[in-house]
Amino acid sequence: MSNIVLIGAQWGDEGKGKIIDILTEKSDYIVRYQGGNNAGHTVKYADKKFVLHLIPSGILRSGKKCLIGNGVVLDPEAFFEEIETLEKKGVSVKGRLFVSDQAHLIFPYHRLFDTLREESGASQKIGTTQRGIGPCYEDKMARLGIRVADLVGEPQFFEKRLRHVLEIKNKILSKIYHHKPLRPAACIKPYLAYRTRLIPYAANTSLILNKAIGNGKKILFEGAQGTLLDVDHGTYPYVTSSNASAGGALTGTGVGPTQIDEVVGVIKAYTTRVGEGPFPTEFPEDLVKKIRDKGEEYGATTGRPRRCGWFDAVIGRHAVSVNGISSLAVMKLDVLDELREIKICTGYRYKSKILKDFPSNVEILKRCSPVYESHRGWLGNISGLKRYQDFPPAAKKYLRRIEQLMETPIKIISVGSNRAQTVMLS
Ligand code: IMP
Repeated sequence: MSNIVLIGAQWGDEGKGKIIDILTEKSDYIVRYQGGNNAGHTVKYADKKFVLHLIPSGILRSGKKCLIGNGVVLDPEAFFEEIETLEKKGVSVKGRLFVSDQAHLIFPYHRLFDTLREESGASQKIGTTQRGIGPCYEDKMARLGIRVADLVGEPQFFEKRLRHVLEIKNKILSKIYHHKPLRPAACIKPYLAYRTRLIPYAANTSLILNKAIGNGKKILFEGAQGTLLDVDHGTYPYVTSSNASAGGALTGTGVGPTQIDEVVGVIKAYTTRVGEGPFPTEFPEDLVKKIRDKGEEYGATTGRPRRCGWFDAVIGRHAVSVNGISSLAVMKLDVLDELREIKICTGYRYKSKILKDFPSNVEILKRCSPVYESHRGWLGNISGLKRYQDFPPAAKKYLRRIEQLMETPIKIISVGSNRAQTVMLS
């Protein structure tokens, strides 16, 4: 048995798409457990580039079953758009893609509230993807959400529920945002059209997964975003609204903790983040440009340029701890090829103290300055290397130091975006 949870150990965009694609080969079921179409998992496959936002990346390998778990928030418009894009590129989802009937649905008012809140200046700007993710999770917790089961059930009950929710939303829209109210028909009609299309995909995915596990099938839990964007363990409030850490894989799918064998943490050889919020190791402007261009550091969902910085072992250790990471995949090591000096942050200086543990208070984090150790760069092209023993000594030293600081073995090293540019360590 080998059921693997794959998570991002930084602020997302670690390169999870490529590792999911590789691990999918040995998995039978691939399941997304949190987030929604705010994610952007890039996979290069058969000379084609795919960016998946909502559908598990495993869909690209024929015969694999893909599930969208109850912890995901599902925008039906994005869901069907993604299916169409896949089918146009020759990837059929028929009979192997299922959506939890307990997953919450994103409605146009969620996207509207996401934008209004970000633009109002009334609260802290988070720099969200404006896909309605946060407002949909808010409704879930406030027990004002509408789930897939509500939509695929009797239309009159769905309509009644939507009218009730819209009444509340319209009060907030007019009183707080001075925005015109939304007409129920504008939501009901398109969603009833989605209903017909969604029925074949809706299922009790927890039941499917647990049966599959009972039959010895292998499950890959595909995390989205990253630990530092987790609503509990991240840089709150500059986070997404779901549990992007390993715990989310359980609550977001209805599978118990005793069924998980491994937790793979994906890290970039440096650090990036999109959106607002503290980022202690952020590069000075000249280095940002160099790494952003070489690493193609632009958001896969929004196209926004990513902020870039040195590898941060404080957040790394935090991620190992809260996720129980059993091994690491280090991505984009080749992006550092031309650097004479490479730094690793080993602690934070706050006032007269050196912090080794990640602080929970975001105001403290904002005021921390990184404590660095300096490493010699390898100044050579490693993107064609196939075996670890051929890596330049300086690159090996850098990797060993990351392992040591994170107290976790590295099992995968990625030196380029193609599948072949991956070195597996035993
Ligand atoms: P939301 O998830 O759209 O609410 O955005 C909240 C924060 O999470 C923002 O800083 C986004 O930039 C960030 N975020 C959301 N999804 C991703 C992702 O897939 N990669 C990186 N950052 C993300």
